Amino acid sequence: MLIKRRPDIPASEITPEAVFHSRRRFVKELALAAGASFAAPAALANTSYEGKASELGEALTPLDIVTSYNNFYEFGTDKDDPASYAHEMTTDPWTVEVKGEAAKTGQFAFEDLIKGLPQEERIYRLRCVEAWSMVVPWTGIPLKKVLAQFEPNGNAKYVEFTTLHRPSEMRGQRSLFNSIDWPYVEGLRLDEAYHPLALMVTGVYGRELPNQNGAPWRLMVPWKYGFKSGKSIVKIRFTRRQPRNTWNLLAPDEYGFYANVNPAVDHPRWSQATERRLPSSLFNPNRIPTLPFNGYAEQVAGLYAGMDLTKFY
Ligand code: MTE
Repeated sequence: MLIKRRPDIPASEITPEAVFHSRRRFVKELALAAGASFAAPAALANTSYEGKASELGEALTPLDIVTSYNNFYEFGTDKDDPASYAHEMTTDPWTVEVKGEAAKTGQFAFEDLIKGLPQEERIYRLRCVEAWSMVVPWTGIPLKKVLAQFEPNGNAKYVEFTTLHRPSEMRGQRSLFNSIDWPYVEGLRLDEAYHPLALMVTGVYGRELPNQNGAPWRLMVPWKYGFKSGKSIVKIRFTRRQPRNTWNLLAPDEYGFYANVNPAVDHPRWSQATERRLPSSLFNPNRIPTLPFNGYAEQVAGLYAGMDLTKFY
């Protein structure tokens, strides 16, 4: 496992955003060299997103909300805990273990896994199971491209993603009030993971992914509730059987494995028929109807043909 590093860039060429990690610059330049649409540091200003909208014409959720209203229980349960404490997590170096039903398994440097793969920007709705939502410009690699490089074999029916377990840097994992059996795990059927909408995210608003959003990479499966999109992934395992997933283990009656956004199936303790689109406040709740499959039904409903989605919630 060899992590190549490029020589230092003269200070005059370094933009404030790029000062951060020479490794990350290297990653971005690799993406650019591969002809990808990954934004160059100079074009990262938030203003370049003014007037951009989702394919449904929805306004983008401002970057400061995307990076300050988060769920990342490894850092605490309050929405502002991840923004306050996620800087305590080290993301460089980052190693990913690949296991299970695939030809290529082992330990890989994060850089090696994304080298040469296309980075794309996608504006996706993120619908949290707690009934709030955002519209976010993510940068990432189609998940199929990430996974196919390991050559999963015919037994691989599912893929499990495990996220970082490092109590020394994650205060939520040290908390006495913690009820989660760490690490956080999630999974998908392999055909779901191979769907063109599924993305492995490495950036947001043209910037490197902030720690609170799941640096250095996290899933984005836009037709499912946000808890399916695990952050800061360190292990990928191809399996024959349906993997376990954290929220299902915690409260099986409330959270299933499939977790497709479904306004017709309520959470036992609240309705899923509507959502608060952020920014939202007491006086301006900005409540909108929730769409089946979070608005992506046309593309993904076929994955579930013949399944009773009230049973497989
Ligand atoms: N991944 C990890 N490792 N830990 C978490 O607590 N929360 C999930 C998901 N991924 C979570 C996670 C939930 S419930 C949601 S809604 C999204 O992350 C939120 O992503 P965001 O904070 O980038 O908006």
